[in-house]
Amino acid sequence: MPTINFILHDGQKVAVEAYEGSSVMHGAMDGMVEGIVAECGGACSCATCQVYVDEAWMEKVGPACEIEQEMLGVAPNVQPNSRLSCQVEVTDELDGLVVHVPAEQY
Ligand code: FES
Repeated sequence: MPTINFILHDGQKVAVEAYEGSSVMHGAMDGMVEGIVAECGGACSCATCQVYVDEAWMEKVGPACEIEQEMLGVAPNVQPNSRLSCQVEVTDELDGLVVHVPAEQY
């Protein structure tokens, strides 16, 4: 299973093995990663699963679709590398992915 590395706001690193075909958000939930709230359960309607994709992974992860961009529009502290983790599918290509967890999701 691909490994997703979450860097928490305090700098702590949490490595989680995630099922291929699931989402980065589900990996965070399974690994009980602090700071990923995911209120809507992955329906792209809450924006509480925001992560900052590490610069080195931006190209492989790719950009947000239009609906995700709209939801990011209501999220706090959005950056150019922001993604909603429920919309990032776990694939073998993303094995080793590094994402940073924001200080807050509201
Ligand atoms: S879990 Fe709600 S938008 Fe991602």
